[in-house]
Amino acid sequence: MSQPMQAQGVYAASDDFIAGAHVNADQYAAMYADSVADPVTFWAGQARRIDWIRPFTRVKNTDFTLGQVSIKWFEDGHLNVSANCIDRHMTTRAGQTAIIWEPDDPKTPALHITYAELLENTCRMANVLKAQGVKQGDRVVIYLPMIPEAAYAMLACARLGAIHSVVFAGFSPDALANRINGCDARVVITADTAPRGGRKTALKSNADAALLNCDDRVKCLVVKHTGDQTTWVSGRDVDVKAEMAAAAPYCSYVEVGAEDPLFILYTSGSTGKPKGVVHTSGGYLVYAAMTHQMTFDYQDGDIFWCTADVGWVTGHSYIIYGPLANGATTLMFEGVPTWPDAGRFWEVCAKHKVNQFYTAPTAIRALMGQGAEWVEKHDLSSLKLLGSVGEPINPEAWNWYNTHVGKGRCPIVDTFWQTETGGHIITPLPGAIAQKPGSATKPFFGVKPVVLDPATGAEQTETATDGVLCIADSWPGQMRTLWDDHARFEEAYFSQYPGYYFTGDGCRRDADGYYWITGRVDDVINVSGHRMGTAEVESALVAHEHVAEAAVVGYPHDIKGQGIYAYVTLMNDVEPTEELRKELVKWVRTEIGPIASPDLIQWAPGLPKTRSGKIMRRILRKIAENDYGALGDTSTLADPSVVDQLIENRMNRG
Ligand code: WT7
Repeated sequence: MSQPMQAQGVYAASDDFIAGAHVNADQYAAMYADSVADPVTFWAGQARRIDWIRPFTRVKNTDFTLGQVSIKWFEDGHLNVSANCIDRHMTTRAGQTAIIWEPDDPKTPALHITYAELLENTCRMANVLKAQGVKQGDRVVIYLPMIPEAAYAMLACARLGAIHSVVFAGFSPDALANRINGCDARVVITADTAPRGGRKTALKSNADAALLNCDDRVKCLVVKHTGDQTTWVSGRDVDVKAEMAAAAPYCSYVEVGAEDPLFILYTSGSTGKPKGVVHTSGGYLVYAAMTHQMTFDYQDGDIFWCTADVGWVTGHSYIIYGPLANGATTLMFEGVPTWPDAGRFWEVCAKHKVNQFYTAPTAIRALMGQGAEWVEKHDLSSLKLLGSVGEPINPEAWNWYNTHVGKGRCPIVDTFWQTETGGHIITPLPGAIAQKPGSATKPFFGVKPVVLDPATGAEQTETATDGVLCIADSWPGQMRTLWDDHARFEEAYFSQYPGYYFTGDGCRRDADGYYWITGRVDDVINVSGHRMGTAEVESALVAHEHVAEAAVVGYPHDIKGQGIYAYVTLMNDVEPTEELRKELVKWVRTEIGPIASPDLIQWAPGLPKTRSGKIMRRILRKIAENDYGALGDTSTLADPSVVDQLIENRMNRG
């Protein structure tokens, strides 16, 4: 970024905010000490925030030892997640709005769905699933836009004890098919078309294409959302709205074990194959509810808005499960921040009197570029707190967010977490921990971060230090395994630094004990707050008939944080043309989805490799960053002249 660093120093919430907050500094210190000294007592107490059908007697049974990694919380307790998010609020909140749905087109009226309506619609959806044979333990793939039916579908699965796997609506048919097959789902729920920013995605036709590569028995449940014409396969396709209308309005919930899976969510790793992260029911819900309440200082009656998509873990934990478990009013937005104009977020905040607003730095940077006048037009006096997630927030974006959106009076919580962690693990609690722009600050209760020397794995015991970020002990929201691949789970998270959970991130800890996340240390890049495995993009590229080899790295991008930079070696007889470059970008979009589109493709006659054939990505990253002075030692390369050629091509790329 070109602007100078502005946001520095330490920012505390106002005295009034602190006085009304759930947790102040003294309480944080005492509770944090308790949570790590005696996690069993601490979490037994916190678990009371949800309703148990059968109380647990065993709180924590976790082991990070490589070869026998096992994570269980509240293991003999029974509950139902849907009942916790809906039914238990019926005596006090039946008429309160559970979900505010704001459609893509601001001219379409918003919906205010009460808890009573949420119960009825979830039950009807559950009965539709049941009629398709869905039962406890079955997997259901949800491929929906940001419409209320996505919430009904997730909660209906939870009600039946079925395991949902939400696939982001921006993913391609191939990615969808892999996820349907990966968990052997027999039902996929989709919609006809999905309007976003005034344009439409043909979800049903994507699902049709995906289902060509799936078992014939997979049923396709279609929400007719826009009413657009789609092809219809009789015997396979089901009209969800019609079936819901005809279904019984109540469906009883099943009793599940605390460690029964609630959902699978695929995320990118450092190999080509996405990982099916598994979260279970009891611990996840306790942790999602607690972090939602404490990190955002959510108070009864507040309107909470998380702008993420339900296709990501942020949407799972902070649009659906955390807020609804707390009896909150949660806002679900179908649209995009810049349509019909760059004031849309703020218009929605003003219209629905949003109290807590949670978004990603990439969105802030994009809006910042459009000018503050889009914010100033709207009345943002309802806002009490702002949140950030997905990547470290840069000082310029922090400063703009603080000044123009928060008017200098809203604490900003920079929440560090991952698909794997279920909820925030390093985050300020706004009434307790003063912010330092760019730092996720301090650990949440029960989380024991450690900084290790990346090479030796030695724990850095001094306060001010840097290295790789690991967590020394389990917390209830932690993932339990990878779907059908516990060996890969251990290998991916517990093998590099035995005895610890490895986040994949680097970090610095300052003299005040604040954590500053410095980014991934593996081959995962962060594009607009979305995690992308470079290997995943590479395998899509080499699947093209003209591509011999590909290497993908991240490079600094003003809006996205990191952009996707692909080096491509073509087959011998293929001419590198502008047309082919465009075709390859399109190819990756169809193979994976628009979020994986390479921003830049550079033709590479050869790639820098060691004599053992390993691609030296360090060098490719430097060339992508235009940083030729710092290439480091290239003497171990099989053919050092490759590097000069790549630099020359880079400079001539125009
Ligand atoms: C990766 C996880 C779970 C939230 C959405 C992304 C990066 C996330 C922060 C933050 C610095 C952050 C990390 C992490 N990340 N939040 N506040 N500060 N980095 O979930 O797709 O699982 O990605 O996002 O690199 O490992 P995800």
